[in-house]
Amino acid sequence: MRPTTSYTEMTIPSDVLASAAAAAARYAPSILNTQPWRWRVRADRLELFAEPRRHLTATDPDGRMLILSCGILLHHACVALAAQGWTARIVRTPSMSPTVPLAVLHGFEAATVTPATRQQEQAMRTRRTDRRPVSDQPIASPIIRAITASAPGAVGLQILTAEQVIELAAAVSRADAVQSQDPFARDELNCWTSRPTTDGVGLPPEVLPDRPPQTTVPGRGFGHRGTLPTGAGHDRAATYALLYGGGDDPAWWLQAGETLSASWLTATAMEVSVLPMSDVIAVPGTREALRRMLKPCDRPYLALRLGVADPVPGRPPRTPRLPTDQVVEVLAPGAFRDH
Ligand SMILES: Cc1cc2nc3c(=O)[nH]c(=O)nc-3n(C[C@H](O)[C@H](O)[C@H](O)COP(=O)(O)O)c2cc1C
Repeated sequence: MRPTTSYTEMTIPSDVLASAAAAAARYAPSILNTQPWRWRVRADRLELFAEPRRHLTATDPDGRMLILSCGILLHHACVALAAQGWTARIVRTPSMSPTVPLAVLHGFEAATVTPATRQQEQAMRTRRTDRRPVSDQPIASPIIRAITASAPGAVGLQILTAEQVIELAAAVSRADAVQSQDPFARDELNCWTSRPTTDGVGLPPEVLPDRPPQTTVPGRGFGHRGTLPTGAGHDRAATYALLYGGGDDPAWWLQAGETLSASWLTATAMEVSVLPMSDVIAVPGTREALRRMLKPCDRPYLALRLGVADPVPGRPPRTPRLPTDQVVEVLAPGAFRDH
């Protein structure tokens, strides 16, 4: 079904649309690397759909993390378009429907490519999730301010106090205990974290620590170790934050994803590593515990660990992605089919 908005005439070459869709899908992070999305490239617009076949029904029954991941993809597509000199208007109709687009990009206009745009696109290409401890160097205050300022809208980032970090650590441990007692959640986690790189989805052993990292707030318990060499350092200098907003429905989750993408790219450009922690949000009781750290009208979407990336072990390997033709459907005549 099409949104009722009328679309402006096509002014953008279809291959620019197709390559922006492909770049976003190649680089955007998603919950357990499920890549729960699908693009449809039409002559005058780009449609984003949720992909229910890659929905984590046991650990994310409401689709909160699925839609948040799609919001990141949407923002990544805007970054890829901007780097090619285009801006887009966005119609958002967020729902879990596989037939109604979550969002449609249309009304494209030519724009100047600025150094800031290039920097964001570069960050999109180099960003990755690093689950090892961050360095002993605290993040400088101006950098924290730049990261929080990149989330200036209805969705924001709240930096946690030392006391709140202890509460977060307790909530994460409780969430982990709840999830590890749920056989469906356990099976789902195992299914998405024991895959060979060739599957193109999920987490291969190469990106999971080879021993439990020393952290103030425990990382997600994957139930098994990976092969990513992990030092004995302790990330005492890490900063923790909550991504939050004024509601808890698909429209808010999509916006939360877009904001997280902007903040994550800003952080990456400043050599700050971002580690999302979602199991504490998936469990209703611990989500409620995090909600109490916010203003009464606000809702938490994700906990985040921020830290100066430790340069010594180098970067973790890239997590695999699905082939483009499985996530980008090209219906526009003249668009390249191979990106
Ligand atoms: C919404 C969302 C939730 C995530 N939750 C977690 C988490 O709880 N623990 C974790 O280690 N990584 C988490 N991640 C990171 C993903 O596993 C990671 O983005 C994905 O595997 C792709 O790898 P990349 O970020 O290196 O490209 C999350 C990512 C997103 C977008």
